[in-house]
Amino acid sequence: MQTDVRPESMERITTPELAQAFIDEQVAAIREQVGEGNVLLALSGGVDSSVCAALLIKAIGKQLVCVHVNHGLMRKGESEQVVEVFKNQLDANLVYIDATDRFLDLLEGVDDPEAKRHIIGEEFIKVFDEEAAKLEGIGFLGQGTIYPDILESKDGVKAHHNVGGLPEEMEFELVEPVKLLFKDEVRVVGRELCLPDSMVDRQPFPGPGLGVRCTGAITRDRLAALREADAIVREEIEAAGVDAWQYFAVVPDYRATGVRDGKRAYEWPCIIRVINSVDVMTATVPELDWSLLQRMCDRILAEVPGICRVCYELSPKPISTVEWE
Ligand code: XMP
Repeated sequence: MQTDVRPESMERITTPELAQAFIDEQVAAIREQVGEGNVLLALSGGVDSSVCAALLIKAIGKQLVCVHVNHGLMRKGESEQVVEVFKNQLDANLVYIDATDRFLDLLEGVDDPEAKRHIIGEEFIKVFDEEAAKLEGIGFLGQGTIYPDILESKDGVKAHHNVGGLPEEMEFELVEPVKLLFKDEVRVVGRELCLPDSMVDRQPFPGPGLGVRCTGAITRDRLAALREADAIVREEIEAAGVDAWQYFAVVPDYRATGVRDGKRAYEWPCIIRVINSVDVMTATVPELDWSLLQRMCDRILAEVPGICRVCYELSPKPISTVEWE
């Protein structure tokens, strides 16, 4: 197994050539570590787990089993993209689990943000464990741990084991091919592995997903409205070429009056949140073009059922956090 310490001599991976050299080295190291064994990986669709999966597929092909759990709180098109890229394009051994009903049923009526987070986290581990228990002959667990995770877990900031508690009877050896890389390097490697830009450049997305942006007790109709509004925000911000750290929609559990087709409407507001940051400990809000704001507003009001008002949030962090919950 590799050391957890990045050697001082290790060059920062900034070019396709350096990425290719890293890929060749890791492919050989993975083959050596895993041999004829099988590796299990929780594939969220985020940058780190996607690049880790692509490296493992290149090294050991079908000896890798990827499990993608759709908790129903993914953004529009995200789970579909995981299936398209990994199953259809990379021919991966992918187990796709649509656990939407399980999560949304458990979350019904739960309005406390921490309780929601707890339910989502626990249930995710449960679903993953159930799938892991069905598989035979798995000796290794792949993880998209990256170097900041290791540094932060050393400092006690956070635990770097992304997957959480697996059944105790399962003894896995970890395979962590990108653990000495920084995020920018993971992206360069991902590009060299031909992952789509939309996956490699994906903005950070919280584990509880849209659950923390559909505030209060989640309902399926409001979640659907949030997903559509969020897709519009992402599409327009990207089309305008805005360079932002995170950009998304929030739909709170509150309604306001409007008028639609000559009749009174009583629908949700949608808040557009765009932030810039270096380390997300603090964040600023960029001044967006009025025409871009107007376009997002017009599209959301016209295209998303249930939303009758659009606001642009000005609050920096601190005092506001990035996420609403
Ligand atoms: P806050 O809201 O604390 O967010 O200012 C800082 C950054 O962390 C992300 N975030 C999360 N990521 N699980 C995650 O994996 C979470 O529960 C979670 N909450 C916030 C947030 O998107 C931002 O990038």
